[in-house]
Amino acid sequence: MSTSNQYPHGDTSWFLRDRFGMFIHWGLYALPGRHEWVKNREKLGDAHYDRYFRHFYPDLYDPADWARRAKRAGMKYFVITTKHHEGFCLWNTACTDYKAPKTPWGKDLLRPALDAFRSEGLRVGFYYSLLDWHHPQFPVDGFHPQRDDPAFREMHKHRDIKKYAAYVRDQVEELLTGYGSVDIMWFDFSYPGEEEGKGREQWESEKLLELVRRLQPNILLNDRLDLPGSADFKTPEQYQPTGPMMDEDGKPVVWEACHTFSGSWGYHRDEATWKSVEQLLWMLIDGVSKGGNLLLNVGPTARGELDYRARERLDGIGDWMRQNGRAIYGCGPAPAELPAPEDCRYTYNAETRRLYLHFFAWPLKTLELKNLNGKLKYAQLLHDGSEMTYKLNQNSSSVLLELPVVKPPLAVPVVELFLAEEK
Ligand code: GLC
Repeated sequence: MSTSNQYPHGDTSWFLRDRFGMFIHWGLYALPGRHEWVKNREKLGDAHYDRYFRHFYPDLYDPADWARRAKRAGMKYFVITTKHHEGFCLWNTACTDYKAPKTPWGKDLLRPALDAFRSEGLRVGFYYSLLDWHHPQFPVDGFHPQRDDPAFREMHKHRDIKKYAAYVRDQVEELLTGYGSVDIMWFDFSYPGEEEGKGREQWESEKLLELVRRLQPNILLNDRLDLPGSADFKTPEQYQPTGPMMDEDGKPVVWEACHTFSGSWGYHRDEATWKSVEQLLWMLIDGVSKGGNLLLNVGPTARGELDYRARERLDGIGDWMRQNGRAIYGCGPAPAELPAPEDCRYTYNAETRRLYLHFFAWPLKTLELKNLNGKLKYAQLLHDGSEMTYKLNQNSSSVLLELPVVKPPLAVPVVELFLAEEK
């Protein structure tokens, strides 16, 4: 990300090439199965929430299956919640007993996931929640489950954020020293400013950043430490930017949109707002056409499986990616002088000089492609490699692409346009 040089940065070239990753939100909240913020939303106390810890037993956990499904969907990296806001840790941390190995399951859950995804060739990222609604030194604030409980607040008014910040560093040190080379560190999140807000001062973000860069100099860091200029990429959440994202000087920055399938990040049994395969593909393509990545989230169940609805979507995405992956990997926005036609997106691979035309709607018979006259050498439908004919528009810089009447049988048809070398 081209912001200040005050801080060191990781090398984002692999990230820009790979474009598509899997987010995994997994923790105790999979048991209530009604949103990972359930402790906050229902203002649950530790005594109540403890039932999920005592019943945590993911006997169908098969990270090799997760990894295979991610790979098949075309994902090239994954980011897993080592700890979410509830404070529960998936790994065998020495800093707390609030961890998977102390549940009835009795085992570390992180290492098997890393092994499985690495052996499928995916890169590894750690999500780590800066918020912690279980830690005894985390000061109660407006997000805390006991925010409206005066007696609790009174009893816990001497909590010391400095002790908590040290705990965070100890945990991050464990994660970045005990698990090999880590590609992404994904902190979540800062809310400075308000009276009880927390940001760089409370998290001691400078120290945290120094620690991360020292332990894993090549890691890519997200932008939620409230430390301007420190991030390698921006993280728009559950929305699609309207165009390439820019920094203050108007230069494009590296970004990754994170999205859920259905609204909640953690497993949500009764949520019915699941996006279709087609919509998810639109999001991925739209993002790449604006220079962004997609981190698409799954919330495994309490028994450790990927939700059947997630599996179905991953399969559908994978079918499309198998045939159309080269319109995604290594691609970014098209050159500015090539505007995409209506209801279409362009992605562009500058190395191979191929332009990809993605159809979000299927027009009738012809489509005008501006400014391609003299530049276009050959065109084919990407999924089957069948030739696409075109006419040169006399006295204009456009090309008229000729389309079959019937839309090809895939969610988003793509035409691969081979461009001539620049003279
Ligand atoms: C938010 C939410 C959280 C989720 C994250 C993913 O900050 O607090 O539940 O993990 O976004 O981006």
